[in-house]
Amino acid sequence: MSINGQGQLLHWLRGVKTLALTCRQWGDTGKGKFVDVLAEIWADVIFRGTGGGNAGHTIVINGKKYIFHLIPSGILHDSFGKINGIGRGVAADPYILCEELGILDREGMTYNNLMIALNAKLVLPCHLVEDRVRESNSDSGKIGTTGRGIGPLYKDHVGRIGLVVNDLLNKDIFVVKLRRNLKEKVRTLRTYDSEVVRKIMQHDHLEKGAYYNAKDIFNEDAIVEKYMAYGKRLRDMIQDTDAFLKNKVVGRMKLLLEGAQGDLLSVDEGTYPYVTSSDPTVPGLARGAGISEKAVDRVLGIVKAFYMTRVGSGPFPTEFGGRKSEDWCATEGVDKAREAALYPDADVNSRSPLAQGIGVRKAGDEYGATTSRPRRTGWLDLQLLRYAIGKSGPHVIFTKLDVLNMCRTIKICESYEYAGPKYRHGQKTLLPGDILNVAIPDSHVLQYCRPIYKCFPGWECDTAGATSVSDLPSKLRRIIDFVSKSAGVDPRILSIGADRNETIFV
Ligand code: IMP
Repeated sequence: MSINGQGQLLHWLRGVKTLALTCRQWGDTGKGKFVDVLAEIWADVIFRGTGGGNAGHTIVINGKKYIFHLIPSGILHDSFGKINGIGRGVAADPYILCEELGILDREGMTYNNLMIALNAKLVLPCHLVEDRVRESNSDSGKIGTTGRGIGPLYKDHVGRIGLVVNDLLNKDIFVVKLRRNLKEKVRTLRTYDSEVVRKIMQHDHLEKGAYYNAKDIFNEDAIVEKYMAYGKRLRDMIQDTDAFLKNKVVGRMKLLLEGAQGDLLSVDEGTYPYVTSSDPTVPGLARGAGISEKAVDRVLGIVKAFYMTRVGSGPFPTEFGGRKSEDWCATEGVDKAREAALYPDADVNSRSPLAQGIGVRKAGDEYGATTSRPRRTGWLDLQLLRYAIGKSGPHVIFTKLDVLNMCRTIKICESYEYAGPKYRHGQKTLLPGDILNVAIPDSHVLQYCRPIYKCFPGWECDTAGATSVSDLPSKLRRIIDFVSKSAGVDPRILSIGADRNETIFV
C-alpha cells in the first residue's frame, strides 16, 4: 500500500544507503508506523541497536494488536525477503524474544531472515530483580524504570561481568560466567529486604519463582536449564551481525536503523539521571547496530506535535499540572480505565491543567506500551527540541498532529525563566530570573525552569482526509512554520493519524 507522497519520499532518499530513524524527545513518538512504511517501500535491512524490553511498539497482525519489544518493526515484511536484525548494543532478553517468536508462529508469520547479534547483551533474571529491587527502595532514588533489567544489564556490561547472547550456545562457558555474575549480584541483593526480593522473583518474566532459592536467592540450575532451552530455540538466528553488516550491507544495501526510546533519554545526552542506560541518539544507535556513525547518510527524527510525553520520573518543565501530574502518573494502579472513570469530562480544553493533561493523554492514547502507565503530558518545549536538533540534525517527522485538532489554544514553550537558587554550571552562573533559550540538560537546572509560552489559536477542525500540506488548516500550518523556524527544524513528514494513509510527505 502506498502512502501520500511516497514518490517524494523515495526521491528524497535517492542515493541514501543508511537511514537512521530516531526520536528527538523522551520516546513513544510512534516510530513503529514509519519503520513499517520504510521497511515496505525502501529498506532491505532493518536493524535495532539500543534498548531492549523497555521499548514497545504496536504491531498489527491479522487485525490483532500486539506489543513487541525486541523484534524490529520490519518483521512483517520478512516474507518479502527483508532482513531484520537485533544488533550488538541491544539488551536481549531471551524470555521476551521467545514470546514474540511464539506470537509470530501462532499468527503464521515468518521470521526466516531474523538475525540476533552473537554479541548482543544477554538479560539475566538477576537484572530484572536488581532493577525492581532498586526501584522499590526509595533510598536508591526512583527513576521510574520499566523494570526490564536495563540499568543492571548495561552496568554489568561496562563492569565486565556481563554475558552475551553467544553464551547461550556454550553451556560450560555460560555456567562459569553466570556463577561469577551471580556471586556479585547475591552480595548486592542481600543488602535489601529479603521478602521484597522473594516477592519480585514471583514475576512472570522470572518464571513465577522457579529461579528463586531461599538460601542462595537464585536457583542456578533452573536458570541454566531454561537458558540452554532458549539457546536451542534461538540457535539458528544467532550470528556475527557485525561482519554481516560490514561485508554485505553497509554501502551496498539499504539499511534502516530503527531507534528505540529518544534523545532526551540518552544516558550520555539526556536528562541524566532520569534516562535509560543506553544511548538512543544516532551515534549510539549506529554503534549498537554494529556500524560506524559515519556510515549513516541521513537521519529522520520524530517529534510529537504540539505536545510531549514522558514516562517515569524526571523534570518536565511544560507538564500540564506540573508536580500534581507527575505524582498522579506515578500512583500505583492508575491506568487508562481508572483515569477514564475518574475524569470522564477531561478533554484537551479542560480548564484545570491536570485535567487538560489527562484530556490530551486520552486523545493521544498516551498509556505506556510496556508498562500501561499513564504517560505524563505537556506542551511542546522548543528549548529541549533545539537541544536535541543541535545534536542530531534538522530533518523531522511531526507526529500525532491530529490529537490537538479540537484544542482552542495551542501553547508553545519559547523560552524558560530560571527560578532556582544560584547555580554554577561550568563557567556560567545561573541566577533566578535568567532567561534560557536552549535547554541545559542538567536535571538540577531543568527542575527550576518555568516555561514562557507563545499562544496560538487552535485550528479546531478535523484533519482527516488531508493528503498534502495545502489541505491542512491555515492555523495549523502557521504553527508548523513557527516551530520549524524557531527550532531550526526541517519537517519532511507530517502524521495525522495512526493509519499509514494518514501521512503527508512535505
Ligand atoms: P529503563 O530504560 O527501564 O531503565 O527506564 C529508565 C527511564 O527511561 C524511565 O523513566 C522509563 O520510563 C524511560 N523509558 C525507557 N524506555 C522507554 C520507552 O520506550 N519509552 C518511554 N520511556 C522509556
